[in-house]
Amino acid sequence: MNLYNYVWTQDGITAKDSLVYPFEERGLQFGDGIYEVIRIYQGNYDLLDAHIERLYRSAEAIRLQVPFNKEELITSLQNLAEKNAVHTDAKLYLQITRGSAPREHTFPDVPSNLYAYIEESPRPAAQLQQGVRTILTEDIRWDLCYIKSLNLLPNVLAKQTAKENGAVEAIFHKDGQVTEGSSSNVFIVKDNMLFTHPAAPNILHGCVRDRVLTLAAESALEVHETTFSTQQLLDADEVFITSTTSEIMPVIEVDGNRIRNGRPGMITRQLQLAYEQVSDIQQTAFI
Ligand SMILES: Cc1ncc(COP(=O)(O)O)c(C=O)c1O
Repeated sequence: MNLYNYVWTQDGITAKDSLVYPFEERGLQFGDGIYEVIRIYQGNYDLLDAHIERLYRSAEAIRLQVPFNKEELITSLQNLAEKNAVHTDAKLYLQITRGSAPREHTFPDVPSNLYAYIEESPRPAAQLQQGVRTILTEDIRWDLCYIKSLNLLPNVLAKQTAKENGAVEAIFHKDGQVTEGSSSNVFIVKDNMLFTHPAAPNILHGCVRDRVLTLAAESALEVHETTFSTQQLLDADEVFITSTTSEIMPVIEVDGNRIRNGRPGMITRQLQLAYEQVSDIQQTAFI
């Protein structure tokens, strides 16, 4: 996919090809940093404030200094989109690490490193329409997955296994309970009620998850932020996953078991349409 030419670093906006990283860099060597992925629809950021708030929560949790305040950060990201003349659907990747220093586990006394770039990213229209396959896999991650840290090895391995099994997402479970996806939150619908794992420390508190909960409340849908088992997942009337890039994605198969005859359900569709409206998406994926 096309990367836009200008990137933003702690030193300002620069052409992406001029960005050089030292090999003794905390993000590269320890995964000692945090990140965000923010949606852009037709040149405009979506859920920007929510992502910035979460970035600061992640930074605080790992005692990382963000080199800008929230307002400066937001202004700089707006400037980056403007400088790149972004008018398409795209996504921004922003990463902050504990800086460049000789390799020692303890914190160095150096400034943080930050970079952000924008990549074209069309909405996955066919998948939003038809739904996707998923697999189940054990959640072997640590207890603090609410921190959006660079340490994604379990997520990488799970997603790769999903791909090798003809699926697009791996759904994690721990002690028989569903936690979240390798890069998404998981929802089920049963008897016209919506269930999702509570916003506990062991899952990422997804920005789209939050928006779905608001939309569900507005539509008078009964919502339960409670854990549910892998069996409840398989027995659900509808299943969907949520994330910045995949929005509200219907799940039509889990580990080879069809959900609802393999067709996206009505409640999922209603939430998808409400999502398009509230995100001010111009072109519907559902014609
Ligand atoms: C592990 C994990 N859970 C959930 C999500 C969804 O978060 P958001 O809705 O903020 O994109 C992501 C997004 O990348 C993720 O990596």
